Amino acid sequence: MEPTTSQAIDLSVDIGGVKLANPIMTASGTCGYCEELSDFVDLRQLGAFVTKSITLAPRTGNEYPRIVETRAGMMNAIGLANVGLEMFVKEKVPKLEKLGLPVFVNVAGRTEEEYLAVAEAMESLPVVRGIELNISCPNVKAGGLQFGVDPAQVKAITAAVRKICKKNILIVKLSPNVTDITATAAAAVDGGADALSMINTFTAMAIDIERRRPILGNVTGGLSGPAIRPVAVYMVHRVYTQVAKPAGVPIIGMGGIQYARDAVEFLLAGATGLAVGTALFVNPQCIIEIRDGIAEYLRHHQCGSVREIIGSLRVE
Ligand SMILES: Cc1cc2nc3c(=O)[nH]c(=O)nc-3n(C[C@H](O)[C@H](O)[C@H](O)COP(=O)(O)O)c2cc1C
Repeated sequence: MEPTTSQAIDLSVDIGGVKLANPIMTASGTCGYCEELSDFVDLRQLGAFVTKSITLAPRTGNEYPRIVETRAGMMNAIGLANVGLEMFVKEKVPKLEKLGLPVFVNVAGRTEEEYLAVAEAMESLPVVRGIELNISCPNVKAGGLQFGVDPAQVKAITAAVRKICKKNILIVKLSPNVTDITATAAAAVDGGADALSMINTFTAMAIDIERRRPILGNVTGGLSGPAIRPVAVYMVHRVYTQVAKPAGVPIIGMGGIQYARDAVEFLLAGATGLAVGTALFVNPQCIIEIRDGIAEYLRHHQCGSVREIIGSLRVE
């Protein structure tokens, strides 16, 4: 008999050994440490919660303005403003524990040592189930180039953090600001990543034409939202077919997901998990609508489980 309720559809997925009730999670940095949006949406409906980037020391972030709306999305240059490791453990973790969800902590740093120190601290927190490595930070020791644009550095930082992660899975978040994202994806897999998340924002710029000055205090920012979705879907498709599927490594897809049909595109292209960021600023409830809309799509297509459609894109 055809399933009639959303409960009858199995939305559960497995990300590197962590079981999620559904594929939907927050995109790092767009939902803080969970309390910021909890008045507007029941976050317990998510599959997992992904925190804002945490660094070893607190960071105040970039000059204001840090956010500007674009015609089909937004640009941000927050500059990894965050409370730092100590305050995160003391004040934010107890709130995350109340969510009752697997938590993936996004970790950033300017040196390998900083990444390792934060990753190590996460090993003693039961609520944390995984580390998401934000490698879009300048590596101060390697001359300021981002860790995430050089495959050799991606492999090295992944392998180093992999050694620290015993109970936690290691997710490596890929930057789209590269010539060939399959090269950095393969490097992360070679370094031992349990999952890949993609994509981070595209470096971009907006200009105030009256003042003839950049709008963002940082001059450049990261473009996110609906504008980047088709490129993100393309990148997920390429990484899935060329790297992730052969290696058996799941992808968490993101970039402009706002409606269920956007999410389904990512699933068909090969994503197992889905993260929603910019759309939360427009409608925090969208994560629930997206989850229910995926179930609706599956029911319409006579699929009992979301896993049936992952990577099922037909290209021939
Ligand atoms: C305001 C804002 C802050 C963000 N902060 C972070 C961050 O701290 N760490 C990170 O890895 N990605 C960060 N991102 C990138 C998102 O996690 C995501 O990769 C990107 O925005 C694409 O998804 P979206 O189009 O659904 O927003 C941020 C994005 C936005 C819009």
